[in-house]
Amino acid sequence: NLRNASSFLCLKKTSKYKTVRHFSVENKLVKDEKSEKFIPFLQRINLRRSEARRSIVVQVQSSQSFKELYAYCNSIGKIKYMFHYSVGIEPLHFIIVEFETDTDITNIKKSSIFVEGSLGLPTQSHFVWFRAAHKKLPKLKQIKSTCLQIENGTAIKEEEVINQMLSKSENISDQIKTLHEITKLNDVGTRLRFLTALQIEDAVNGMFPHAVAYPFGSSVNGYGKMGCDLDLFLKLAADKPNSENGRLVFHCKPLNGSERTMNQKYMETLGDLIYLFLPGCGQVRRILQARVPIVKYQQQLTDVECDVSMTNMSGVHMSDFLYIMGEQDDRVRPLIFAIRKWANIAGITNSSPGRWISNFSLTLLVLAFLQNPLSGKPVLPSLNKLSELSGPEDKFQLEDGTDVSFLRDIRKYKTKTKNTDSLEQLLKEFFEYYAHFDFENKAVCLNETVNVPKPEFSPMYIVNPLERGLNVSKNVSSDEVVRFKNEVRNAAWMLESQESKSTHWGLLSILQNKRTNSILQAVSAHSQQGRLVEVSTLFEREDEDNKKQNKRSNV
Ligand code: GTP
Ligand code: MG
Repeated sequence: NLRNASSFLCLKKTSKYKTVRHFSVENKLVKDEKSEKFIPFLQRINLRRSEARRSIVVQVQSSQSFKELYAYCNSIGKIKYMFHYSVGIEPLHFIIVEFETDTDITNIKKSSIFVEGSLGLPTQSHFVWFRAAHKKLPKLKQIKSTCLQIENGTAIKEEEVINQMLSKSENISDQIKTLHEITKLNDVGTRLRFLTALQIEDAVNGMFPHAVAYPFGSSVNGYGKMGCDLDLFLKLAADKPNSENGRLVFHCKPLNGSERTMNQKYMETLGDLIYLFLPGCGQVRRILQARVPIVKYQQQLTDVECDVSMTNMSGVHMSDFLYIMGEQDDRVRPLIFAIRKWANIAGITNSSPGRWISNFSLTLLVLAFLQNPLSGKPVLPSLNKLSELSGPEDKFQLEDGTDVSFLRDIRKYKTKTKNTDSLEQLLKEFFEYYAHFDFENKAVCLNETVNVPKPEFSPMYIVNPLERGLNVSKNVSSDEVVRFKNEVRNAAWMLESQESKSTHWGLLSILQNKRTNSILQAVSAHSQQGRLVEVSTLFEREDEDNKKQNKRSNV
């Protein structure tokens, strides 16, 4: 990797250090995402892709290099925006430069060079570095500040800072809104993810001119926080092959084995390609035996962890569904952020796959609750309702013919919700709802607003909304379901039992380290039963439990 990108030799250092993400806060000129009107998902993806196509990532000495970089780039093309970000504890500095037109970027690429005598392969990409000028530069004129307002900010906030900010909120609803505002993926984070996707697309573009690397999952569905991973689906063929008029037909290589075997081979080759040829990409891992084979890697120049797959488009349509659900009501995303964070701290979810609930399953649990809350006033429509309202522009099929048509332009859904509950009420209701949910007999289903009987035995059954024969939470063990139920009960109890504002009031009471929480609860339970025990004994008992659990996960 390093030899391949001689210009990034200093990257070797980063891998040794913990990465701190000091992305710049968005340029003031960039429209606030919130004030932007609704844009359908696939249209938004295409806008972001085009923005990435017109951008380059330039490694610079420091953020102060922006004036010189501006002067240089502006002599070749017209700059639209510039953003500074840095990666690492001994930070490497980068500036994203977005140009006005595709011609600008063609000219920038033409004028970029490979340094003679370097050991790396001459790979062309959107990643470059800005070398020192050979001749003395004329004094730089005052540069239009509107184009260059660069504000640095720490994107991934320390837990302590988050807690402080939350403790200053007025009430629990404000805490939920604040948590969302300060942890959600920002504009620079999104740009970096689309630039990372573009690198993969460009890498195969010679052989597959219609290839598209679609970002999906939390990077684009509106539920991503700063530092979230990037899920990519690499589609090699065009959406609609033009097979009508031409008479000269490309020779194509036939499949040489079953579709699955071939797919595994393609993924293996893609892994090699990423490892051997793409600047900044390292830590390549191939997970080929999974139902959907993936290649994982780290793009160090954008500081993004990626999962690429080539098998099916359902993740992209699913992201569209989650996206419109978030766009439908302002409360959806903040609520999901708070619940995801709570679940992570309570140890219900875990970033590595296993027998526990995934973030995706948890998101579906929240959406299903919002479709069918205890108050009887739905916040969100069912997927069946959206399918009924779909028009010709919403018609989509998966590769295996599964129909995934549903209304994509949510502005056409005119029914206003009668639910006016505050975020605080919704959060408490969510915990209540699942504390009493009959996981033994019922499946969670987002297609209808009622919970349906379980079609087969699985401790937790969430009907995959787009591929109805599949259970999204098939991996979840019965122990984990019990744990989930216990934790939602605990959380409901913690939120209800607060009398006055202590330091860890409201949302903070359920976002504290699980260990402290469970000890406090155990103490409370024991004392209620007149069985006061030494707190140290409880800690020991919990340590024992943890050890056992770790042993099990290692196995
Ligand atoms: P984080 O990465 O944890 O921030 O959330 P995420 O929503 O991106 O989840 P993840 O990276 O695990 O999955 C990415 C996307 O893949 C999800 O949003 C879904 O669209 C899809 N996906 C994940 N798990 C499953 C699954 O079990 N079944 C199906 N059908 N799709 C899944
Ligand atoms: Mg993801």
